[in-house]
Amino acid sequence: MESASGSLYTRLGGYDAIAVVIDDLLPRLRADELLGRFWTSPRSVDTNNRERQLAIDFIAAAAGGPTFYLGRDMRQSHKGMGITKADYAAFMRCLSVTLDTFEVPEPERSEVVAFVTSLEPEIVET
Ligand code: HEM
Repeated sequence: MESASGSLYTRLGGYDAIAVVIDDLLPRLRADELLGRFWTSPRSVDTNNRERQLAIDFIAAAAGGPTFYLGRDMRQSHKGMGITKADYAAFMRCLSVTLDTFEVPEPERSEVVAFVTSLEPEIVET
């Protein structure tokens, strides 16, 4: 994800910009009609903070940033949830609305969408 003008991480605006995007996306996923069921049990503030931190680090590291992702890989962290293709499509719709909200330009927008799309085989089980 390197181009003439630098890593995707740099082109997205770095750590703070990625954090702002994740802070828009996570509540959108939790509020989604289809996806909300994955976040129904009571969760501590700390668990939510940890999930947010891991999401930021994962994206920042994948985009070529200096963060080190300490979480589990995508297959391990989602295995057993029974995430369907329809769920994944809902995730992609939420992501699209978030990218629209921040008017993320091309080619960065397509690079983000392509990266998240590439993870589908590791996350979808049914
Ligand atoms: C429909 C799709 C998805 C659903 C329903 C979903 C749901 C979840 C849930 C409920 C957790 C918490 C698991 C736990 O605490 O044990 C989690 C963890 C995580 N998810 Fe997803 N997820 C989806 C797709 C994605 C995608 C596309 C990415 C990356 C872009 C992602 C990145 C992560 C990360 C980094 C973690 C933390 C892993 C860890 O705890 O070590 N997820 N996801």
